Amino acid sequence: MLVSLFREARQCTRCALSESRTQVVFGAGNADADLMFVGEAPGAEEDRQGLPFVGRSGALLTEALAGVGIDREDVFIANTLKCRPPANRDPLASEVETCQPWLFRQIELIEPKVVATLGNFATKLLTGEPTGITKVHGKPVVRQLGERWVRLFPMFHPAAALRASGVADQFRDDVAALPSLLAEPSPGPEDR
Ligand code: URA
Repeated sequence: MLVSLFREARQCTRCALSESRTQVVFGAGNADADLMFVGEAPGAEEDRQGLPFVGRSGALLTEALAGVGIDREDVFIANTLKCRPPANRDPLASEVETCQPWLFRQIELIEPKVVATLGNFATKLLTGEPTGITKVHGKPVVRQLGERWVRLFPMFHPAAALRASGVADQFRDDVAALPSLLAEPSPGPEDR
């Protein structure tokens, strides 16, 4: 069950981020969601509240989703790293690797149809490919994650959209594609 996984993750000391974090940011939302978002890592506000995407990036994501008729309450939002890197530095490859079993287990339990990866870290981890977000955003691919076949949908990170208006337009285009992706049936190996 997702709640048992949460109780376990809350105690995690698998990497050094456990020493600097305020608390684990496990993820939040509908445990039975068809759509799951995977961001990068908690920032200062997320670390304080214990919830993902509660700062400016989160507000943009919530507002853009509402604009296409998707309620944030209906999706599940998680991150590649469950703990805040000090001073918001980039995740280290070793941290991404150590933390990834939590994310894969979340995906197995939630069983989403679509997993939207926000930005480079989540996209590279879940596609298993080094190609950056600028090239792959907006192009859905079918992948097996653990036991689960999903449509993986790389998107720009809302923080990048907040920094550059050109990216903001592309971020909104990516968000606009979500309803039709969700309307498609769950994928299987034949959709690869
Ligand atoms: N950025 C992320 O990638 N994740 C959060 O939870 C907040 C900001």
